[in-house]
Amino acid sequence: MAVPFLKTFPRRRRVFGVVLLFSFIWALLPVENFNPPRTVLLGITKTLAGKSSSDVLEFVDPLIGTVNGGHVFPGATLPYGMAKPVADTNNYGEAAAGFVSDDSLIVGFSQLHDSGTGGALSMGNFPLFAHPGCPEDDFKQCRYVSSDRAIPRINNSATARPGYFAIRLNNSVQAEMTATAHTSLFRFTFPPEAEVPYAYPASGNEDTPQMVPNSPLILMDLIDLMSSRSGGDIKVNMATGRMEGGGAFRPSFGHGSYQAYFCVDFQGAEIRRTGTFLRANATDGAQALGSTYGTTRLSQGSAGTWVQFAQAPQNQILARVGVSFISDSQACRNAEQEIGGFDFERVVAAAETAWRDKLSVIKADHTGLDVDLLKTFWSGVYRTMLSPQNYTGENPLWTSDEPYYDSFYCIWDSFRAQHPLLTILDPETQTDMVRALIDIYKFEGKLPDCRMSFSKGYTQGGSNADVVLADALIKNLTRGIDWALAYEAVAGSRAGTL
Ligand SMILES: *[C@@H]1O[C@H](CO)[C@@H](O)[C@H](O)[C@H]1NC(C)=O
Ligand SMILES: *[C@@H]1O[C@H](CO)[C@@H](O)[C@H](O)[C@H]1NC(C)=O
Ligand SMILES: *[C@@H]1O[C@H](CO)[C@@H](O)[C@H](O)[C@H]1NC(C)=O
Ligand SMILES: *[C@@H]1O[C@H](CO)[C@@H](O)[C@H](O)[C@H]1NC(C)=O
Ligand SMILES: *[C@@H]1O[C@H](CO)[C@@H](O)[C@H](O)[C@H]1NC(C)=O
Repeated sequence: MAVPFLKTFPRRRRVFGVVLLFSFIWALLPVENFNPPRTVLLGITKTLAGKSSSDVLEFVDPLIGTVNGGHVFPGATLPYGMAKPVADTNNYGEAAAGFVSDDSLIVGFSQLHDSGTGGALSMGNFPLFAHPGCPEDDFKQCRYVSSDRAIPRINNSATARPGYFAIRLNNSVQAEMTATAHTSLFRFTFPPEAEVPYAYPASGNEDTPQMVPNSPLILMDLIDLMSSRSGGDIKVNMATGRMEGGGAFRPSFGHGSYQAYFCVDFQGAEIRRTGTFLRANATDGAQALGSTYGTTRLSQGSAGTWVQFAQAPQNQILARVGVSFISDSQACRNAEQEIGGFDFERVVAAAETAWRDKLSVIKADHTGLDVDLLKTFWSGVYRTMLSPQNYTGENPLWTSDEPYYDSFYCIWDSFRAQHPLLTILDPETQTDMVRALIDIYKFEGKLPDCRMSFSKGYTQGGSNADVVLADALIKNLTRGIDWALAYEAVAGSRAGTL
């Protein structure tokens, strides 16, 4: 880490001049260039390098590390946020965090992800997928199953920056996404024409792309990246299009299972019909699936709900997806509280502000440094605040007033660099993480060494949470930490960790 130009800096000190200049430049860009390629932005910022007033977010490139085993999460998120929407790809050997920068196909846009995990796929629960229309305007002829609906992306269309991710699909749908703490907000843009490409070849006519009537169908698949579901329920409201549901899923490489829930609302187009699908079979005759609703028990595979809309007057449909580990009604409450107005630009701006705040503790003198180094540095710092994730208020396992953090992935790696750095960059959050570790000890009987999705890791030995606690003590983190209990946890955990 480039220590010489890392100095702590008063939080409130913010330089508005360059931010305003950027807004001005952005405002002048033609609408179709609203998301200019990063090279353009870097061209602009390059001339500003050397002035510490540069907007450091322009140096964060979330796509670094999305190939060759990096497994990092490049989607939209707040610092330590639980909602982490991104496009999921079908390169399942690489897609531990959902998205991969290669030629693999896009299977959907899911809400929950981890970042930088080593082994198995993690989460990827609750993908939405958007068709611009269905062959012969017949919803039964649209593709529902994850492997059937997988579709090429438009080359180089993936755009990622803090709080924002976008990609264009070969069916001419553009998907943009942003996030609050527990809610994803999607903006799907469809072509303005009355006929739109379906982009999958018609059977028996492999060379000719089909044109279909513009009538977007958006589906919600009750699935995760590993297809690990072992039961769940989902329903759609015929009048409002609201979809709610949840199920039991397996953690990446931990033990047991965890429950997760979602709640989707749409805005932007009139609803024509709604229904469910089980594997490839879609119907508008049933509006709910799962044993709670008296239908088949949902085990693995694609199953969910769909809404078919009339052509969107502004060619855009917004989807707001709340998530929760407690219940689907809590997922709905999270969404309603965090994103009342479906105002996409406002949610992006709030996420950018949150990230600028977090990164503003570092004052970097950019003089004479090239853009590649600045990108490496700021993207690295950004990455230290994706996980562990803040699940406070979302812990179904025990009742406590302590903060709850999860996705400690894994402390045998993170105790060396990430946590010690956070004691300096973000001591408030590190304090909450330490309290969460102690609370996990209190209720599980051991400190975790790896913990994901409310489940125990057990994968490697060691007792590295001890080091995290000791480091916090030495660095004088105090607010609300029960050091007597912390000592008990460290002494007790000699017998082993979770
Ligand atoms: C997209 O890129 C891949 C290789 O990365 C190439 O095979 C393919 O032809 C490209 N498609 C288009 C439409 O340019
Ligand atoms: C994209 O879709 C068009 C039809 O709309 C098709 O001709 C083309 O081959 C597709 N491209 C890829 C990379 O699949
Ligand atoms: C789908 O429906 C067809 C006919 O309606 C039926 O034969 C088939 O078994 C169904 N498949 C599934 C997975 O339910
Ligand atoms: C963590 O989440 C809780 C509950 O949503 C919230 O009150 C708290 O401010 C969050 N902490 C951080 C560091 O964002
Ligand atoms: C921690 O606090 C003690 C007592 O106030 C002080 O002597 C020590 O320098 C502090 N340590 C750090 C790392 O700030």
